[in-house]
Amino acid sequence: MVCLITGSSRGLGKAVAIAFGSRGHRVVIHCKKNKSDAEDVASKMKESMVVEADVKNIHEVKPLVNEVVNRYGRIDVLVNNAGITKESLLIKTSEQDFDEVVNVNLKGPFNFIRIVGRHMMKQKSGSIINISSYAGVKGKEGLASYSASKAGLIGLTKTASREMAPFNVSVNAVLPGYMLTDMGAASSGKAREAALENSLIKEFSSPELVAEFIFNLTEMKEITGQVFNLDSRIV
Ligand SMILES: NC(=O)c1ccc[n+]([C@@H]2O[C@H](COP(=O)([O-])OP(=O)(O)OC[C@H]3O[C@@H](n4cnc5c(N)ncnc54)[C@H](OP(=O)(O)O)[C@@H]3O)[C@@H](O)[C@H]2O)c1
Repeated sequence: MVCLITGSSRGLGKAVAIAFGSRGHRVVIHCKKNKSDAEDVASKMKESMVVEADVKNIHEVKPLVNEVVNRYGRIDVLVNNAGITKESLLIKTSEQDFDEVVNVNLKGPFNFIRIVGRHMMKQKSGSIINISSYAGVKGKEGLASYSASKAGLIGLTKTASREMAPFNVSVNAVLPGYMLTDMGAASSGKAREAALENSLIKEFSSPELVAEFIFNLTEMKEITGQVFNLDSRIV
């Protein structure tokens, strides 16, 4: 399989890339700016390529997808994982910060689904997984833009799944638990404590476990339009 994982230079994306790469699949490692980290991830697998693009910019996404299709001839798996967060109370959130978060977390996946989806629909197969969040379902103080973007991503997932099912393309959303990646570690101590407190098992989520789930989900071609909560906080 040819697997394109956005934001796979580090964090969850890196774990997902390794889950596919360690099984011999061809993996496209994508980053925005940390190319040396992306190359390091690529060095861990047999067949891979490294690409850079800002997900919110269609003029960068289109040539990236063309480059992958020119090289491998197809794309079987797309994981829309790249994401950012900016913490501030809603009334203190600037319009610029709101736009940036929504553009990366929601418009980014829209850009990729629009371009990659066409290839998958033509080849009559494919699996798309969008990484949403507990915050997108429950809301979270200090994360208005992030919660809004991740809630929007669930709506995008459901509509894309309806439109693409006739072409044998599945589209699902996954909600990982709280992971101590760069993003998770950058949150306030209070946010981390609250996540642990509300977790039924009092543990953070492991990127490797989430990655295994994502790999298995791409194998289950008949499941589409679903939102999978892997967070042991109850939604
Ligand atoms: N961490 C958590 O607790 C948690 C919980 C639920 C959901 N999630 C979601 O899981 C996903 C991965 O999160 P993470 O914790 O692994 O984050 P992370 O460690 O901060 O990594 C973010 C990745 O996204 C890429 N990226 C950021 N902005 C980009 C842009 N504009 N264009 C292209 N790539 C961009 C980064 O590339 P560079 O390295 O080049 O900057 C990096 O590869 C996100 O969608 C996040 O919202 C995370």
